[in-house]
Amino acid sequence: MIEELLDKVQTKKYKIGIVGLGYVGLPLMWTFFNEGMPTIGFDIDENKVNNLNEGVPYIKHLGKDMMEKLSKSTICESTTDFSRLPEADAILMCVPTPLDHHREPDMSYVVETTKTVGRYLRKGQLVILESTTYPLTTEELITPLLEELSGLKSGEDFYVAYSPEREDPGNPDFNTAKIPKVVGGDGGEALKLALALYDTAIVKTVPVQNTKTAEAVKLTENIFRSVNIALVNELKVVYHSMGIDVHEVLEAAATKPFGFMKFTPGPGLGGHCIPIDPFYLTWKAREYEQHTRFIELAGEINTNMPAYVIDQTMKALNKHRKSINGSKILIIGLAYKPNVDDMRESPTFKLFDILNDLGADISFYDSYVPVITPTREHADWTGLNSIEWKEEIISSYDAVIISTNHSDVDYHKLGDWSNCIIDTRNAMKDYKSNKENHIFKA
Ligand SMILES: NC(=O)c1ccc[n+]([C@@H]2O[C@H](COP(=O)([O-])OP(=O)(O)OC[C@H]3O[C@@H](n4cnc5c(N)ncnc54)[C@H](O)[C@@H]3O)[C@@H](O)[C@H]2O)c1
Repeated sequence: MIEELLDKVQTKKYKIGIVGLGYVGLPLMWTFFNEGMPTIGFDIDENKVNNLNEGVPYIKHLGKDMMEKLSKSTICESTTDFSRLPEADAILMCVPTPLDHHREPDMSYVVETTKTVGRYLRKGQLVILESTTYPLTTEELITPLLEELSGLKSGEDFYVAYSPEREDPGNPDFNTAKIPKVVGGDGGEALKLALALYDTAIVKTVPVQNTKTAEAVKLTENIFRSVNIALVNELKVVYHSMGIDVHEVLEAAATKPFGFMKFTPGPGLGGHCIPIDPFYLTWKAREYEQHTRFIELAGEINTNMPAYVIDQTMKALNKHRKSINGSKILIIGLAYKPNVDDMRESPTFKLFDILNDLGADISFYDSYVPVITPTREHADWTGLNSIEWKEEIISSYDAVIISTNHSDVDYHKLGDWSNCIIDTRNAMKDYKSNKENHIFKA
């Protein structure tokens, strides 16, 4: 069976089903589509599926061209009809893995998807989990569930693999096709088939010995980021108290050609990965009576950053004989990082919540997020619109906090129009101010 399937991959007759058409699934579909592989997308969100079939963009940084080409293609379609899962030769699951209210893994999306796939599973199919998750998920949860619901046997009747995504949305230098892909299989044949599949479209595949190793690779990468971001955030606070500019320090340190890697401080962690994924390991480690102290400490430092920003805002307003209570405060940037429209877990929401509790009148400006759509965690802010980029509007605020440094913001105009700016991203570094108590680093 495996030889036939490998041949189908080589001859590009192998159809790829992608379940979950979000930030990961959509670029993945595009990557295979570009190599002439037939694809079928599945999502429970009817709007996404309709938009995709009609060529209407729903993730800004991915652009119109991609959506138009996918919608017009004869080798690619999307549906909410999961009874069509047997049409696919491989099923790639790219559904969310958030934390629940107790900051423990919420595996409900993965479990529901696996159950659906299991009900429709047929002989010869390859199922790959791409969602970020704790080590042993595939071995202990996915494979047993698929076997139970289908009555088929992994490695004999069907194949299972795990391959994490390494998307960096908005990064012009790297798209899915250009990022090496780590792959672990449930057995040798599953690995061989999964590698062959990704090799059709991705620059390099990196096989590891099993699925739990591949799961651990992804968490290790994100824990590395979380811990290092916490470190530079801590250094920012320490150096600030000494009158040292942490950004200048980091830029100078980065000239060392070996042994140093630059991370950038900010107002806290955001996005669907770095604030969340490390705690998947923390949760699983408890089962083995292991503690993840670095992860917990990094989480604590990063979580406290918005409070530090508010403290600096209070001091800045104080210089103008104003308090947060009753002040009009504008936050620039709602997305969690520059030049994307992804506002999941954005620390700006935390700033909103604290400022609101302290009695500020809050607005935001973000050309990538014209209106706040419903989020899992910050429903209170749904429907709030970005203000217009106009001098008379911007200059009416008592203080402006730069939370995300999108590159389409004219920071020189911002400097001219506003009298009090709290800059968490070093966005005002090239602006020469001649006003007193004007720009504060936070
Ligand atoms: N966003 C990133 O940059 C990134 C990078 C690397 C890894 N990841 C990981 O990839 C996974 C997916 O993340 P994302 O950012 O693409 O999420 P997303 O929210 O953008 O997309 C997930 C999609 O899955 C759909 N979905 C939910 N339940 C479903 C179900 N039962 N059946 C079918 N579709 C369902 C949702 O409607 C949504 O369209 C997560 O585990 C995430 O941690 C994300």
